[in-house]
Amino acid sequence: MDVYAAIVIAVWAMLPAYIPNNAAVLAGGGRPIDGGRTLGGSRLLGDGKTWRGTAIGWTAGALVAVLLNELNGPASDALGVGVPEFPIAIIIAFPLGAMLGDIGASFLKRRTGRQRGAPFPGVDQLDFVVGTLLLGVIAAPGWFFDTFTLPVLIVVLLLTPVLHILTNGIAYAIGVKDEPW
Ligand code: CTP
Ligand code: MG
Repeated sequence: MDVYAAIVIAVWAMLPAYIPNNAAVLAGGGRPIDGGRTLGGSRLLGDGKTWRGTAIGWTAGALVAVLLNELNGPASDALGVGVPEFPIAIIIAFPLGAMLGDIGASFLKRRTGRQRGAPFPGVDQLDFVVGTLLLGVIAAPGWFFDTFTLPVLIVVLLLTPVLHILTNGIAYAIGVKDEPW
């Protein structure tokens, strides 16, 4: 597989996982998932993980996957690469995995003494990828390994931190996010 095809497939396949965290930033607020509970003196997750942000992030990612499926044919023609079609299990699992990965990272941040919004380099950029790939491989292993070949996986791991830093920087610059990470 050439580099161009690997990039196209990686971005297409990961879009339903890239959207949820950004949608959560826009939609967040309201009741925190942990309901204010603490563990060992620190919040379980913190005020930055809300029911509303999670539900809207998950829904937004799933809707994007449905939309991408609608565009599959014309997009494959235009890009010159056969982009993957998302099975229903992945439409549900990818955006959920992205949200759960991010929530898991907040759990880790609170256990390591980091306050809400504190940076955790590496974890902030890849938490949702780990959640997405993990839930994806459980939900649809056949589709997963057909789509995420080694070159595609490598592109995902290299490109995601770059895209994450870029989108969060933009969100911070236009004032929708409190910190640029
Ligand atoms: N958000 C949300 N629900 C989620 C994820 C994010 O409501 N499951 C919203 C919150 O308003 C949050 C914002 O998106 O403040 C930014 O997300 P993120 O950077 O992940 O959270 P932080 O506030 O930085 O908190 P943490 O330190 O726990 O990551
Ligand atoms: Mg943050």
